[in-house]
Amino acid sequence: MAKITKLDDIVSLCKRRGFIFQSSEIYGGLASCYDYGPLGVELKNNVKKAWWKAIVQMRDDVVGLDCSILMHPMVWKSSGHADKFADLIAECKKCNTRTRVDHLKDRGQKTEDGGQKAEDRGQRAEERGLEVSAGHAEEHTEHIAIDAAMAKAQDLSNKVCPNCGAVGRFTEPMPFNLMFETRMGANVDDSMTMHLRPETAQGIFANFRNVLDTTRVKIPFGIAQIGKSFRNEVTTKAFIFRTREFEQAELEFFCEQGTDDQWFEHWKQARFDWYIGLGLKKDNLRFREHDADELAHYAKACVDVEYRFPFGSGDWQELEGIANRTDYDLRQHQRGIRTLNKWYENDRELTNIELAKEAEDYNKGPLSYFDDQKKQRYIPYVIEPSAGIDRSALAFLVDAYDEEEVRGETRNLLRFHPALAPVKVAVFPLVKKEGMPEIAKNIYNDLKKYFNCFYDEKGAVGRRYRRQDEAGTPFCITVDGQTKEDTTVTVRDRDSMDQVRVSTDQLLNYLREKLEI
Ligand code: GAP
Repeated sequence: MAKITKLDDIVSLCKRRGFIFQSSEIYGGLASCYDYGPLGVELKNNVKKAWWKAIVQMRDDVVGLDCSILMHPMVWKSSGHADKFADLIAECKKCNTRTRVDHLKDRGQKTEDGGQKAEDRGQRAEERGLEVSAGHAEEHTEHIAIDAAMAKAQDLSNKVCPNCGAVGRFTEPMPFNLMFETRMGANVDDSMTMHLRPETAQGIFANFRNVLDTTRVKIPFGIAQIGKSFRNEVTTKAFIFRTREFEQAELEFFCEQGTDDQWFEHWKQARFDWYIGLGLKKDNLRFREHDADELAHYAKACVDVEYRFPFGSGDWQELEGIANRTDYDLRQHQRGIRTLNKWYENDRELTNIELAKEAEDYNKGPLSYFDDQKKQRYIPYVIEPSAGIDRSALAFLVDAYDEEEVRGETRNLLRFHPALAPVKVAVFPLVKKEGMPEIAKNIYNDLKKYFNCFYDEKGAVGRRYRRQDEAGTPFCITVDGQTKEDTTVTVRDRDSMDQVRVSTDQLLNYLREKLEI
């Protein structure tokens, strides 16, 4: 139970301190959509900056990209999303709620941490707005062979509806496509059906040729992108863990077939180390290799980086997937290019058209790579580390959250890594007189040129410290009576609460060293 309580604590802290709000709250809220408040947007930006720094800035073999969310409809035909990006769902005949079949629990089944039975737990979790899903929160059976998945769907006669608790009252499982549809164009005649992208990866494949032709990249190299993706998820909840609009950070790393296993191992380790380097506790992080029958049909290998989130059955949940996608995507897009005429002839609709057969010499196609050493053309293999920014932000929040007793009072704090902390330094005058606010303001104005700072002169200094602890601010600077005598200030460390005196002319260097900025 303590673990579920902890997600409640995070949700309430996020709301109280302006990290994350329910979207459209003034109108009663929009389910599974969230807005990042003043502290939240800083946290999220810092997660993105840390990813970009590790993946693009610090490497000579990766370049960046920023693609549009709306893409040519044929992109989704070629990628397989138009036909196969679905969850298998069943509808409860009693309350009409649709649930992912892989999220249904058996009657009487207890959670793996010994929690309530599925039928009780469903209703209670529902009331709290938390996750109702089964132990392992599987992501989509991406690009499922729908017939095979339906055949594999278990007997639902003993399954519990997570909404009303009814047992075994489900319809036959059916596929539900997760892409959001919209229309583009003002005129009825020339408007067409479009999709909001369900992943950023396809924008990278679609720009592979452009990047090759405009840069000096040589295989092995990667193209990285951070951006919004949209999925009409059947099961959402668990706060920002699974939402319908979210941000992904994806890298497509192109390499020669034969070197792909080695690059897969490289990226697996690099991504694990990234989370640890930003402060996630090692005990809360692990790899989970996908079983052969779980792999998308084109993938040669896939491993999830999992974090022990405090919800569901207190189980491990996917934070990021790392896949060896082989040469599948680029080859599919070559087929897509060959299908373009058919799409025009079909009134620019995707339904009822099939992708053209692959050319026999596909290795020489428009998305091939020319190796000028070997004088050979080929379609490269791809290793894809694919992370969720919101999900990472949630993991960093959960992992940083702490409560401790200090002089009979509970101190709530977020022990963020300095690179992630929304505010790096808060500056206070001890009291609002004797020239202290003026000195403190000068220090604040000086430091904010270098990193995000916060100035506060309201209330007792102890309470100001506590507010910054809750926001995860690593250092607080206080100007006091002694400052006027010897130009030193106190610098208080969030985690230890230790205070040291630092001369104002050394302050910037001191903080930069401590913050590693
Ligand atoms: N291109 C591969 C791909 O999109 P995925 O496993 O479907 O793979 C990658 O998604 C990551 O994106 C997940 O590990 C997760 O962190 C994040 N993600 C996926 N769906 C999400 C959702 N509905 N809400 C929040 N994050 C999501």
